[in-house]
Amino acid sequence: MGRSARVVVTGAGQGLGLEFARQWVDAGDQVIALARDTRASTGLVDLAQRTGRQLIMIDCDIGDDASVEAAARTIGSTVDGLEIVVNNAGERGQTEDLDSLDPNVVLRVFNTNTLGSLRMSRALLPLLRSGHGKPPRIVHLSSLMGSIADNQSGGSYAYRISKAGLNMACRTLAYDLARYGVTTAAIHPGWVQTRMGGSAAPLTTEAAVSDMVGTIQQLSIDQSGQFLDRHGEPLPY
Ligand SMILES: NC(=O)c1ccc[n+]([C@@H]2O[C@H](COP(=O)([O-])OP(=O)(O)OC[C@H]3O[C@@H](n4cnc5c(N)ncnc54)[C@H](OP(=O)(O)O)[C@@H]3O)[C@@H](O)[C@H]2O)c1
Repeated sequence: MGRSARVVVTGAGQGLGLEFARQWVDAGDQVIALARDTRASTGLVDLAQRTGRQLIMIDCDIGDDASVEAAARTIGSTVDGLEIVVNNAGERGQTEDLDSLDPNVVLRVFNTNTLGSLRMSRALLPLLRSGHGKPPRIVHLSSLMGSIADNQSGGSYAYRISKAGLNMACRTLAYDLARYGVTTAAIHPGWVQTRMGGSAAPLTTEAAVSDMVGTIQQLSIDQSGQFLDRHGEPLPY
C-alpha cells in the first residue's frame, strides 16, 4: 500500500468538483477543496463533517490573483507537499451567437477558464515539487468544445476560446514542468449532469468522475501535454 495522496480540487462546491472531492476522500486520500464560498456548499460542508481533517475547505476565486496566492499560502501552511491538482473550476458564459457576443463576457470566461488554471498551477508548483515521491500531476478539466480540429458548429465563442486556450496552456506547461517531473494533461469529462451540463446529459457525475480518477491515477509523464477523454484516450486538439 502506498501513502495516500494530497489532492487539491478547485470549484469543489458542486458538480464534478464536489464529486472529485467525495471520491478521493472515500479512497482515503486527503482533499483540499477550494470553492468561491465553501460554507455555501451544503455538499461540501456535509462531506467535511463526515470526514473531519481528511477534507480541508479553503475559499478561492480562481479568477483573482490575490485570492489564488492567499489560498496557495494557506495550503502551504497545511501540507508540506501535494501529489495531485485538479483544475476543475470553470464557467460556461452565455451560449452566445455572433450577434449577441459580449467581449466583456469573453474576457471574463477566459480569465476564469484559461488563466484560472494557469495561475493555480503556477501558485501550487512549489508544493507539487515537494510531494512525497509519487509523480506529481496537474489535470485541467477541458472540453471537446475547445477542440479546433473537432469544431463543426458555430456559437459559444467565450467557452470555446477559453478551453482552446486552456488546452494550449496545458501543452505549454508540459514542456515547462517536465524538468520537475510534473505531468500535466487536459481531460474532457464527457457530457455530464451538472449545473453546466444540464439534466439531459447522458453521464452522471459519479460515473464521469470515477472514470477520470482512474485516468488521473494512471497518468504517466509520456502523456504530459495531451488532451484526453475521461478514459485516457487522446483527443484531437
Ligand atoms: N458538465 C459537462 O458536461 C462538462 C463538459 C465538458 C467540460 N466540463 C468542465 O468541467 C468542469 C466542471 O464543470 P461542472 O459541469 O461541474 O459545472 P458546474 O456544476 O457549473 O460547476 C462549476 C464549478 O466551477 C466553479 N467556479 C466557476 N467560476 C469560478 C471561479 N472564478 N473561482 C472558483 N470557482 C469557480 C463553480 O463555483 P460556484 O459554485 O461558486 O458557482 C462551480 O463549483 C468545468 O471546467 C467545465 O468546463 C463540463
